[in-house]
Amino acid sequence: MAFLADALSRIKPSATIAVTQMARDLKAQGKDVISLSVGEPDFDTPQNIKDAAIAAIQRGETKYTPVSGIQPLREAIAAKFKRENGLDYKPSQTIVGTGGKQILFNAFMATINPGDEVVIPAPYWVSYPEMIALCGGTPVFVETTIENNFKLTAEQLEKAITPKTKWFMFNSPSNPSGAAYSYDELKALTDVLMRHPHVWVLTDDMYEHLVFGDFVYYTPAQVEPGLYDRTLTMNGVSKAYAMTGWRIGYAAGPIELIKAMDMIQGQQTSGACSIAQWAAVEALNGPQDFIPMSKKAFEERRDLVVSMLNQANGLVCPKPEGAFYVYPSCAALIGKKAPSGKVIATDEDFVMELLATEGVATVHGSSFGLGPNFRVSYATSNDKLEEACRRIQRFCADCK
Ligand SMILES: Cc1ncc(COP(=O)(O)O)c(C=O)c1O
Repeated sequence: MAFLADALSRIKPSATIAVTQMARDLKAQGKDVISLSVGEPDFDTPQNIKDAAIAAIQRGETKYTPVSGIQPLREAIAAKFKRENGLDYKPSQTIVGTGGKQILFNAFMATINPGDEVVIPAPYWVSYPEMIALCGGTPVFVETTIENNFKLTAEQLEKAITPKTKWFMFNSPSNPSGAAYSYDELKALTDVLMRHPHVWVLTDDMYEHLVFGDFVYYTPAQVEPGLYDRTLTMNGVSKAYAMTGWRIGYAAGPIELIKAMDMIQGQQTSGACSIAQWAAVEALNGPQDFIPMSKKAFEERRDLVVSMLNQANGLVCPKPEGAFYVYPSCAALIGKKAPSGKVIATDEDFVMELLATEGVATVHGSSFGLGPNFRVSYATSNDKLEEACRRIQRFCADCK
């Protein structure tokens, strides 16, 4: 439509939202659908956080807030970075946004000029390239391999950097693969970045708390303090405290960048919801016992899902260190006939046939930039997961 902006032709709708919608439609038609496509914890927000929000309403904390966030939240964020990541940020170096999504978008908006490149390891979270494209930048994808557990190597990063590279977009644990970088793996990447002083690091640490076993989490500026002056460390309460609907994300970084993001947000949405901000203060400063509880539940589910999917004919499912996703390969099923008689030519066909035949909703890997794979979100009950995995096993066995 001629009326619409050219920028729209550079982006596509979120594939995860599309699959979720199709699953909803099938459900509305009465089909028994198990959705493994959603990107949010199935737990309820902890009661102390809800109570803090209710108290904020009662106190009348219902007015506009400063654009970058209320002071108690910015102080809580600075304290969190010190406590959990060993990073020294002043509250003035932090910013609160309406979800991590807004933080990322405004960071790109504040920095990207036409032609600027952003290096993104694939598979990647679907919104990165679209946000970058909307801002006129060029996403540069670097495909990881299943053999390297979907992690970028130092050699790959070195090769991808050009004089036009503005950002290295880093996400650990990863949506969609669940891969998380150990200290040594991350240090290998930060060593490369130290040789390229024009490249900034945008690290999306949303899944920080969901790492399993004895894995120890690190963020780039912690591993390499030399990167502190060119790193934006982004995080949020959505996944850590089951607060996806509250829409609070945050970041910390060099003051000039934070001020630029503040300026954009000031002309856009202003401060995030005042009540949700007070809830986030409680999330960060209050009791933290929700985190180990959800971590334990997700670790059990990861083990269940990895084991059951590896028993399905033709699937290979690496065991990731974190998040609540696995990213199995369905390469061995490409070219086979689904029970409907349709030939599975792509991972999208695999996902659509699986949904139509067995009522299990997942997301095809090609939408995350690396296939043939599919993403399974295990943020649902063990009973549902077991049933869904049994259906996936049956579907794979029935592909001839
Ligand atoms: C990797 C990653 N980053 C950022 C976000 C955005 O989170 P928020 O709900 O805070 O906007 C998500 C949500 O799915 C995500 O998976």
